[in-house]
Amino acid sequence: MTSPCESVFSARDVTKTFGAFRAVDGVSIDVPAGEIYGLVGPSGAGKTTLIRLFCGLAAATHGEARLLGHAMPGDRRAVESRFGYMPQEKAVYRDLSVGENLLFFGQIYGMDRQRIARRTTEILSLMRLGDRVRQRADSLSGGERQRLSLACALLHEPDALLLDEPTIGLDPALRAQFWDHFHALSKGGRTILLSTHYLLEAERCRRVGLMQAGRFIAEGTPAELRSAAASRAGRAVPDMEDVFLVLTASSEGAS
Ligand SMILES: Nc1ncnc2c1ncn2[C@@H]1O[C@H](COP(=O)(O)OP(=O)(O)OP(=O)(O)O)[C@@H](O)[C@H]1O
Ligand SMILES: [Mg+2]
Repeated sequence: MTSPCESVFSARDVTKTFGAFRAVDGVSIDVPAGEIYGLVGPSGAGKTTLIRLFCGLAAATHGEARLLGHAMPGDRRAVESRFGYMPQEKAVYRDLSVGENLLFFGQIYGMDRQRIARRTTEILSLMRLGDRVRQRADSLSGGERQRLSLACALLHEPDALLLDEPTIGLDPALRAQFWDHFHALSKGGRTILLSTHYLLEAERCRRVGLMQAGRFIAEGTPAELRSAAASRAGRAVPDMEDVFLVLTASSEGAS
């Protein structure tokens, strides 16, 4: 486990460029153990790119992204079994069955067969996919495939979770169920960095980082963001969607 004072996700002035384009532009962030931190921001703001830097799937052009105290991607092997990643495109192996997908990921995480079997039963029951073990992933519905993708990220009970739009396209009941589970994980000391376009979900995060054009233009608890928006707008801004609109519009105006 991570010591209480050590950040699970930390970055200092991290930049990721593609040619001359700055997808992530001088971002600093610290997420302590047990926190749920939400990345929000317009499409193309750099949320996925930042998550991929923490997973070690891309290297920062400047600065350093650290996961569980390890520099990524250099130390990726040292933390591979301690984090779970749910990509935006919800990658599962479509020609494998549900059970085979979990077996595959379990082996990658270095789990023994017995633990994979125990966790497969637990996690599929939690994701309400217990009766789908033998079904091929390409015959699942979109929401079922999404639950399988989350199951793959959670199988090995990782300390840190990176979830890129984990609830997109889910019905409200399933979305609520996912959030209950995220909060249970957080209570158990797990740390979650997630992205979302659902501003109501931002309310359920301990802290939120609002990204625009690769930068953090606001960061804090939902209450702090609401009060930042109120001082920009000169009126109360109770609705999180309005908070997003006020802060992104005023930042565009400032640049
Ligand atoms: N490999 C790449 N090559 C070139 N440009 C890239 C690459 N990856 C990302 N980008 C660009 O970086 C910017 C940020 O992309 P990113 O996927 O991080 O945005 P996002 O905030 O996750 O958006 P969305 O909400 O649509 O998922 C985009 O303009 C994207 O086109
Ligand atoms: Mg994205």
